[in-house]
Amino acid sequence: MEETELDSSELGTHSYWQQSYAKEIINFDDHGDTGDVWFGEDSAYRVIDWICKCNIDKNSPIIDLGCGNGYTLIELAKEGYRNLLGVDYCNEAVELAERISKTDFPFIKYKVFDITQGSVDKLGCKFSLVHDKGTYDAIGLNPDKPRENRMKYIDQVYEMMENNALFIITSCNWTEQELIKQFSEKLKLKCVIPTPQFKFGGKVGSVVSSVVFVKN
Ligand SMILES: C[S@@+](CC[C@H](N)C(=O)[O-])C[C@H]1O[C@@H](n2cnc3c(N)ncnc32)[C@H](O)[C@@H]1O
Repeated sequence: MEETELDSSELGTHSYWQQSYAKEIINFDDHGDTGDVWFGEDSAYRVIDWICKCNIDKNSPIIDLGCGNGYTLIELAKEGYRNLLGVDYCNEAVELAERISKTDFPFIKYKVFDITQGSVDKLGCKFSLVHDKGTYDAIGLNPDKPRENRMKYIDQVYEMMENNALFIITSCNWTEQELIKQFSEKLKLKCVIPTPQFKFGGKVGSVVSSVVFVKN
């Protein structure tokens, strides 16, 4: 049976992100505010801690899909990772991320790239680790062809991964079971990163799900 799609939202549109990052650039220039940490610092740190424990070489190529202000890459740079690329389809996001990291972490690279359209060859290499927090969610919220774009996203992620590479996705719109179902056709489940659980009406769930897949 085909997956039910998410109710569409402005968070799935390019114009929403363009306006939002244009404001964040002004805020950064005015008073150094680096902008939103989507789904909160705790969920970002759970993933970063997990990455730090999995013995990935500090020079392995890592890509952050829909990097926004570059928060995850900056935290990985603080942990010693050096081969970092952030892509986002929003010019303003890339500009903001570059401004934020240029002084302390000039080695982090950023590129404007639409994951559902661009050719992965343009990324320059394959990656040992592919990270996404909130971007697959945004793609699924687009009012125009969300399913087609999600399928394209899954193909593109597969294409940009080296053999044995890891893909870590954090979502607040899809449950871990839905993510496992959607990605398991191409990738193998490695683990679910434990997140705080809530119980409602006898059903246990998580507000945010972080799932790790491997390509082999
Ligand atoms: C919820 S925000 C998350 C930003 C960042 N990953 C974080 O955790 O702070 C979603 C991001 O995905 C980007 N995005 C949405 N669709 C995209 C696409 N097709 N290709 C590349 N980036 C996309 C948006 O511009 C936005 O920066």
